[in-house]
Amino acid sequence: MSGTGATRLLIRDLEQLVTPAGRDAPLRGRALADVDWLDDAYVLCTGGVIDSVGRMRDLPALDGDVVELDGSGHCAIPGLVDCHTHPSFAGDRVEEFSLRAAGASYEELHAAGGGILSTVRATRAASEDELERAVRRHAAWMLRAGTTTFEGKSGYGLDRDTELASLRAVAAAGGVPTWLGAHAVPPEFDDADTYLDFALSEVLPDAAGLAEAADVFLERGAFDAAPARRYLEACRAAGLSLRLHGDQFSESGAVPLAIELGACSVDHLEATGADGARALARSDVVGVLLPVSALFLGRPMPPARALVDSGAAVALATDFNPGSAFCESLPLVCSLACTQLRLSPAEALGACTVNAAHVLGRAGHVGRLAPGFAADVVLLDAPDWRYLAYHLGGDVVGAVVRGGDLVWSRSRRTAS
Ligand code: NIG
Ligand code: FE
Repeated sequence: MSGTGATRLLIRDLEQLVTPAGRDAPLRGRALADVDWLDDAYVLCTGGVIDSVGRMRDLPALDGDVVELDGSGHCAIPGLVDCHTHPSFAGDRVEEFSLRAAGASYEELHAAGGGILSTVRATRAASEDELERAVRRHAAWMLRAGTTTFEGKSGYGLDRDTELASLRAVAAAGGVPTWLGAHAVPPEFDDADTYLDFALSEVLPDAAGLAEAADVFLERGAFDAAPARRYLEACRAAGLSLRLHGDQFSESGAVPLAIELGACSVDHLEATGADGARALARSDVVGVLLPVSALFLGRPMPPARALVDSGAAVALATDFNPGSAFCESLPLVCSLACTQLRLSPAEALGACTVNAAHVLGRAGHVGRLAPGFAADVVLLDAPDWRYLAYHLGGDVVGAVVRGGDLVWSRSRRTAS
């Protein structure tokens, strides 16, 4: 089946149905591990929204047309939410990947004009049509891995036309656009401030109409705290919510700045120490953890256990991009969360559903299997929902329903 989500859909005979419990967001501390878990379950959806979930024995009699999807042998979890991706790029960085395998470091390649700036060159050379096709291709990869909601950043144009084209391409592919106007200083500018003079006067007025949030790479070799503050304050004044790439290689001042400016999130945190973790725990800023990026670059993992145990709100995301995390799979992120970050499968699930939805301002709409939520459902082809994390690198997603439509199934390869 496919279509508009206007019909009724019954997903029946599920082995298990698992969803973050309650209605709160973000989930912190012990509440992050709280899931509602039903055996022999169903999900009933109408017009793209969940009507009810329950046990098969409690399924009400249904009148009228109902499309049925056989869930036997499968477990249902909410459609996954990827709150941090960089899908708008052309070219690849496979050469750099090989150089790093031979010992070059990410920061050395960046300082030598490779890294992010090599993707900027390729992306500027692409047409808007090519960029849109690239983002759609990347979004289709995410969907097959169970992602039904994704955020997508610009940041590989760093000129007016390519940045705006990237934001339009993300929206056209169904993503939530974030203007990463401060990703790197492009080569035609001498320093961060002269670049920001241009970006804030020539790009921000239009970017603010296309994006929901603004993001900055606050790091040595990228943007220091002072220009990062200037960029974020201007973006906030233009109505954008704020995100930061922070503490990826060094504790850079991103955590205090994020808290002071009321940002939605600070992302990476591989270098965050005990004081930063404590400060985040006392704040409303979500720590977005990106374990694939740490793995891909051979860096230390972020202090996830300390963050959760001290009461910080954390989310998990892929950081999908061509340089530091060429990986679109949130199931793999969940595997890394359980094996490297010492989170439980239930904590990992909450972090890439309801908490990620909170980062994107959508926690009342996606990220749970509950009445009134979007009918976004992942069917895991597994006898237990924890295979999501347990089957490391496995082909665990059997089918994906988005907005009440079956948009992908392993057996039918439905187009999105
Ligand atoms: O989140 N750290 C900054 N930005 C991206 C990487 C971008 C790239 O290497 O192309 C990240 O890791
Ligand atoms: Fe990133």
